[in-house]
Amino acid sequence: MDSKSTIQPATRSLVEFKVLSSNDLEAFRAIQSEYLDQWSMDFLKEQFTKFPNLYVGVFVRSKKLVGIAYGSVNEDDSITLQGIAVKYSLWRKGIGSRLLSFFEEQVRKTGRHRISLGSGEGFAEQFYLKNGYTPLEIKAKSEDGRVLATERIRDYSDGVIRREHLRQELKPKEVIFIMEKHW
Ligand SMILES: CC(C)(COP(=O)(O)OP(=O)(O)OC[C@H]1O[C@@H](n2cnc3c(N)ncnc32)[C@H](O)[C@@H]1OP(=O)(O)O)[C@@H](O)C(=O)NCCC(=O)NCCS
Repeated sequence: MDSKSTIQPATRSLVEFKVLSSNDLEAFRAIQSEYLDQWSMDFLKEQFTKFPNLYVGVFVRSKKLVGIAYGSVNEDDSITLQGIAVKYSLWRKGIGSRLLSFFEEQVRKTGRHRISLGSGEGFAEQFYLKNGYTPLEIKAKSEDGRVLATERIRDYSDGVIRREHLRQELKPKEVIFIMEKHW
């Protein structure tokens, strides 16, 4: 069995997926700032209070937080997945995918039907495609985070070609894929 791509039965039984409590926020913030966003504790508490069911995590041996996923509700009642990260030592064992599907379950429980996200450039795109997300558009962004261009795309390959054009034309800091899953 390939231990890189298949979670071992021993590891599987040791990991647990849970909705987070306010006691988990310090550990949450440590992972968030290492892999995703730098939020102040005050801002994190404010967001967590608004969307408590959309803050989920994966624990080993019931206590150590090793992965997080979190989202927010948009004005059109869809959900944005704002971030997902798993500690590096546990990558490629299927834990990120299981965490994402646990997050999706929480969204379903709210009665909503759509999750959208902006994928970081690189392998995160493969992660979301593998988990059933559909690329809808690409966005070119400047150093200071301004959106320089948005283009609808037919599919991922179309997006890869258009991304190259935008890179040459606008010299952006990054071109990200906006993806969505609905049911
Ligand atoms: C993205 C992330 C959460 C994936 O977690 P993970 O537990 O390693 O994911 P999985 O094991 O469930 O991977 C599922 C599939 O995603 C793709 N994938 C995940 N990591 C990959 C990598 N480093 N390179 C290429 N493909 C990758 C693969 O198709 C993988 O399936 P496979 O292992 O059978 O080939 C993790 O890499 C991470 O925390 N990254 C840093 C934070 C980040 O970039 N988050 C996304 C922000 S948009």
